Amino acid sequence: MTRVFDTLPAWRAERLAQRRDGLSLGFVPTMGALHEGHLSLVRRSRAENDRTLVCIFVNPTQFDDPGDLAGYPRTTEDDLGMLRAEGTESVLLPRDVELYPDGYRYRVTETERSRVLEGGSRPGHFDGVLTVVMKLLQIASAERAYFGEKDWQQLMLVRGMAEAFFIPTTIVGCPTVREADGLALSSRNRRLPPSDREKAPQFYRTLLSAPTAGAACRDLRAAGFAVDYVEDRAGRRFGAVRLGDVRLIDNVPLGGRG
Ligand code: PAF
Repeated sequence: MTRVFDTLPAWRAERLAQRRDGLSLGFVPTMGALHEGHLSLVRRSRAENDRTLVCIFVNPTQFDDPGDLAGYPRTTEDDLGMLRAEGTESVLLPRDVELYPDGYRYRVTETERSRVLEGGSRPGHFDGVLTVVMKLLQIASAERAYFGEKDWQQLMLVRGMAEAFFIPTTIVGCPTVREADGLALSSRNRRLPPSDREKAPQFYRTLLSAPTAGAACRDLRAAGFAVDYVEDRAGRRFGAVRLGDVRLIDNVPLGGRG
């Protein structure tokens, strides 16, 4: 049975009872609009822990563009149906005021690696991500937390934060899940009109095949993508592009598939 917790005290009481019974917990934070990528995290958590908690919370502080926040898909009833079908034990649906009683006066900032790539294109984005993840890790009180490698920079920053603040939760990275044509699964994909959906897999193919980041940029622009960045860093190639008003990000290992 899947239990839905819409207040933090109700979840805390449940976690206390789990701990009394010696049950381990895996935690999957999400912003909803769930797809197979999220479900792969839930399955991994269920395989490695006695219980799994999924959080659905569209975190306002990580959006630098109010239009993007307003347009972010919200599909809670469908999400709950998918989580029930997976046998997820617990779902947390917190409200803004409960997670941000301080009005976001307190926040977590990383001062170096959060300033490039996504952080360079979306000022303040990682302050919002790290702050909400810090809050959620404290609230979940899990042994392990699961994050997708599609958001590689996020995964590295969350892992670094957990180490820096001695958070006793292991941060587990999970492989990117792709459509058969290579497009990385993302909640934003559902907003692509058919012609852009057809074009979108070229993003992944170009990241993989272009000889340099500069060549990838040129090829993507020629194919009709608006390019935010393509950069090679620490053995990976990172890219962010727009098709219409839909922003896509991806990353691949240099010289391999990912
Ligand atoms: O990757 C996401 O969906 C979000 O950035 C996260 C980790 C749930 C924080 O809001």
